[in-house]
Amino acid sequence: MTDSTSDVDQSRPSIARVYDYLLGGKDNFAADRVIGDHFMVDLPGSVAIAYSNRAALVRAVRDIALSTGIRQFIDMGSGLPTADNVHQVAQRHAPGSRVVYVDNDPIVLAHGRALLEENEYTCVIKADVREPERVRHHPDTVDLIDFEQPVGVILSAILHHVNDDEDPASIVRYWYDQVPSGSHFFISHFRSGDNPETVEAEGMLQDTFGRGRWRTDDEIRALFGELEILDPGISTCLTWRPDPAPGLTRIGASGPEPTLWEQLIVAGLARKP
Ligand SMILES: C[S@@+](CC[C@H](N)C(=O)[O-])C[C@H]1O[C@@H](n2cnc3c(N)ncnc32)[C@H](O)[C@@H]1O
Repeated sequence: MTDSTSDVDQSRPSIARVYDYLLGGKDNFAADRVIGDHFMVDLPGSVAIAYSNRAALVRAVRDIALSTGIRQFIDMGSGLPTADNVHQVAQRHAPGSRVVYVDNDPIVLAHGRALLEENEYTCVIKADVREPERVRHHPDTVDLIDFEQPVGVILSAILHHVNDDEDPASIVRYWYDQVPSGSHFFISHFRSGDNPETVEAEGMLQDTFGRGRWRTDDEIRALFGELEILDPGISTCLTWRPDPAPGLTRIGASGPEPTLWEQLIVAGLARKP
């Protein structure tokens, strides 16, 4: 693991720490909790987005590990390693799986250092996903990932933090060109419901962080580019390859149907032909 962790700014909220707070984590500060509380109080049920996203990510990594032979992953915008991170899920099903975590938030590095200290197959690098070449040529990436072998590229709840003028599709294209046939891409993304909730949530994120886009189904589909999207296609995280006995908390749900908020985050798994 490399780079400094001394630049954690506690006075301003960060996406990673607000997300940690919404998921019930402890790696957050007062400034993060103010924004997190806005979501929980002003947009009741919205935390379901974080929970259903995280659960779909876990199922996707499990399926990649169990059914593709892929033993190496790059997790962009990985967030704070909480329970059941990509390396924990992958190594549970395929011991020896290697994982490079990428995040531009210094607290992710700090937390990752503790969690990953004794895991020689895993590293965290501090880098910006909008600069994919830096990620690709980072010494830790070069060390851990063999680009002659298929890779699991994880873009979970990160592309919606890349604004339109920053061209999120170009990030997917970059990695598409770097990895061999058989590589898999998991993408989850805020989905516009064309409703007041989406508008308010997007406004809150843009006002706070200057990023956070709820995209339409067509816009999200376009992010997959030439990738072959696997069953069941792009669907809400809740309904994407659901477990028969789901173990993770659902927020604001009173039945099997997705709540309004659970409809506002979707996922898809795709393969490079
Ligand atoms: C909503 S969290 C998603 C965490 C995890 N991928 C998941 O799905 O549970 C978004 C993460 O992306 C990180 N992030 C946002 N913009 C980024 C960028 N340009 N480069 C690297 N990381 C970024 C944030 O710091 C945060 O940790």
